[in-house]
Amino acid sequence: MQDRKAITGVPIHELLARRWSPRAFDASRAVSRAQVAALVEAARWAPSCFGAEPWRFLMWDRAQDAAGWQQAYDCLSDNNRKWCKNVPLLFLACAASSFEHNGQPNRWSHYDTGMAALALSLEAVAQGLVAHQMGGFDIPKVRAAFGVPDDFMPMAMIAVGYQAAPEVLDDEETLKKELKPRARKPVAERFFGGRWGAPAG
Ligand SMILES: Cc1cc2nc3c(=O)[nH]c(=O)nc-3n(C[C@H](O)[C@H](O)[C@H](O)COP(=O)(O)O)c2cc1C
Repeated sequence: MQDRKAITGVPIHELLARRWSPRAFDASRAVSRAQVAALVEAARWAPSCFGAEPWRFLMWDRAQDAAGWQQAYDCLSDNNRKWCKNVPLLFLACAASSFEHNGQPNRWSHYDTGMAALALSLEAVAQGLVAHQMGGFDIPKVRAAFGVPDDFMPMAMIAVGYQAAPEVLDDEETLKKELKPRARKPVAERFFGGRWGAPAG
């Protein structure tokens, strides 16, 4: 199994360093009901602007609902379908366009929903699982297939399951992505101190 722990500039928490987005999933291992409950609970406790909890998550567990899972899988882009065929659990994260309490536009809902998705992804790592978020899916198709209302934006699908060895990937391009070294931009290119563009620290 690949250990793709981030090579960080300074030590960070294991959970953060170990999270990554693999494509090789073990088709033979389902995610337990208790694990699913923990993933949902982690996302549920994410922070949000005004405490509005503007996210909605749909989920399809292949072991429980093969037909629903297939419908969700069919909404993915060609590239994502190449590796998601082995994924046991799929989520769809959606963000509200307005606040429930006053009907005003919620310009933070995408931000909040991303935090909930990250919380779910980190809980997956804590559960010995992996999570891979995807923007590559057909939005009108998920709206039509699953009744997502117009005032919610489908943001990302999330593949969750047990990691497998890269050899399970039968597509060369996908395998190349799986083996590509993980990298990030230097701190100074993305983090500023005091003023835009000024070096941090
Ligand atoms: C909103 C979002 C959309 C993404 N869309 C895709 C996707 O459609 N397909 C894919 O293989 N990976 C997708 N990714 C995964 C990113 O490529 C990955 O997070 C990034 O390359 C960093 O790698 P790491 O997560 O392994 O650190 C997406 C990630 C996010 C957060």
